[in-house]
Amino acid sequence: MLKASGKFQMNRLLLPEPLIKSPLNYIGGKYKLLPQILPLFPCKIKNFVDLFAGGGNVGINVVAERIFLNDNLVYLIDLFRYFKETPVNEILFQIEQCILKFNLSLENEEGYLALRNSYNLEKSPLKLFILVCFSFNHQIRFNSKHCFNVPFGKNRSEYNNTIKYNLMSFIRELKNKNIYFSVCSFEKFDFESFDENDLFYCDPPYLISTGTYNDGKRGFSGWSETEEKKLLTFLDQLDAKNIKFALSNLLFHKGNRNVILNEWLSNHKKYNVQRLDFHYNNSSYNLLSRKKDDTQEVLITNYR
Ligand SMILES: C[S@@+](CC[C@H](N)C(=O)[O-])C[C@H]1O[C@@H](n2cnc3c(N)ncnc32)[C@H](O)[C@@H]1O
Repeated sequence: MLKASGKFQMNRLLLPEPLIKSPLNYIGGKYKLLPQILPLFPCKIKNFVDLFAGGGNVGINVVAERIFLNDNLVYLIDLFRYFKETPVNEILFQIEQCILKFNLSLENEEGYLALRNSYNLEKSPLKLFILVCFSFNHQIRFNSKHCFNVPFGKNRSEYNNTIKYNLMSFIRELKNKNIYFSVCSFEKFDFESFDENDLFYCDPPYLISTGTYNDGKRGFSGWSETEEKKLLTFLDQLDAKNIKFALSNLLFHKGNRNVILNEWLSNHKKYNVQRLDFHYNNSSYNLLSRKKDDTQEVLITNYR
């Protein structure tokens, strides 16, 4: 039997306990799937690139010499930079001050809208975080003028002790790890200096399911068949350079099949498809509901 020796064994053999959950409650976030995804990563990773970082659930839990968090949503990466560079007590204090100033609560929509106006004037990263705590379904969405426009999450969303705990753990790990940030569309990410010791993890918007970040209405480009094909070509380029990749995606979802992805796989038999069970942890989720949902989440890798 293999034994965990040294920190590089962590990804495959020992899941860090407890796993860190992004305080952003990001839609499409991979927190629930981490116990299935992390063991499928190579034991030893030099550079880990989370190319579509989103809430950062994956990058923050990976053990590697260097971790790159990239997203094309500049305000998100600004927020991560702010978390890494600011003392945690200062962050917690400023959150409390802001909640008091705008009198934010589960019910005060006016206060939320005043904070939203204020954020849209100055784009302070911390105000974005607080907005997301109180926004409908904790969504992040911008209009074509780059104004945050998610409505209030009345009686549902707030800054509570769970978010505070997740925030503190997330910030601690951001500070402890060797993390680099970048803002660019995936195809512009320069992989020239990477090699076979590195892993690019890709969790793009899913072509056959919707998230607010792939509707093209956030003032940022959406996700269509064009981006999907570009990404698959990008992965082939990584593979040609012997750089490892792992791609999260859906083969099918509620009657829709991702034809582009399925065809790419039949043309690249050497890539491995690992089936993941999105509901594996939910005992009340019975077989009948599974059938209705009919979703196959996968992790596709170019290594074993
Ligand atoms: C499914 S989310 C990632 C969730 C993340 N893995 C987590 O667990 O929190 C997809 C992310 O891709 C980003 N994105 C969309 N189009 C992109 C592009 N062309 N280049 C880079 N990032 C992009 C979105 O802003 C979004 O944050």
